[in-house]
Amino acid sequence: MKNESFFVHESSYIDEGVFIGQGTKIWYFCHIQSGAKIGKNCVIGQNVNISNNVIIGDNVKIQNNVSLYEGVELEDGVFCGPSCVFTNDLTPRAEFPKGRENYKKTVVRRGASIGANATVVCGNEIGEYAMVAAGAVVTKNVEAYTLVAGVPAIPIAKVDNKGTIVERF
Ligand SMILES: CC(C)(COP(=O)(O)OP(=O)(O)OC[C@H]1O[C@@H](n2cnc3c(N)ncnc32)[C@H](O)[C@@H]1OP(=O)(O)O)[C@@H](O)C(=O)NCCC(=O)NCCS
Repeated sequence: MKNESFFVHESSYIDEGVFIGQGTKIWYFCHIQSGAKIGKNCVIGQNVNISNNVIIGDNVKIQNNVSLYEGVELEDGVFCGPSCVFTNDLTPRAEFPKGRENYKKTVVRRGASIGANATVVCGNEIGEYAMVAAGAVVTKNVEAYTLVAGVPAIPIAKVDNKGTIVERF
């Protein structure tokens, strides 16, 4: 789908009732579900699923193979590394689905980055310009400008806006 203000590769599906901001590019094999809102100048890589009602700010980059489940919100300037994982149910059961009103929210604040293959357990907030190391499992809120790593993820450093490590713990 091409229109004057954004680009969607022909291999991707955009459901009814999706908002896509100006200058955003959605690449190969993506599915954007109804009610999702994607801001301006975002880049959505290959094989990305954005579920119902997910909110994404401006200038967000989402690398290949990321699923954003309902209840996830990404503020402006967030970076999601390849194959990072979000969740929305802490104790899921196939036979007893909790329903969308019980999904737990995950908010990633402005400018934060999630490393490749990291998992963000739902109900947590990742602070402004925080950074999650590759392969980490986030089980608690992450403070702004803090680098967390490991399983479970713990703070290991302070980072600045550009991602430079400015203090190691
Ligand atoms: C966490 C990270 C920022 C650390 O950077 P750094 O501190 O400059 O890395 P260093 O190589 O100096 O490692 C410092 C220590 O952290 C450890 N470490 C590095 N990356 C780690 C990770 N992802 N998880 C756990 N420990 C990690 C190192 O083993 C080292 O430990 P040691 O001091 O016991 O030897 C970086 O390794 C990382 O994971 N970046 C994310 C990359 C990514 O996913 N990019 C996605 C876009 S392609």
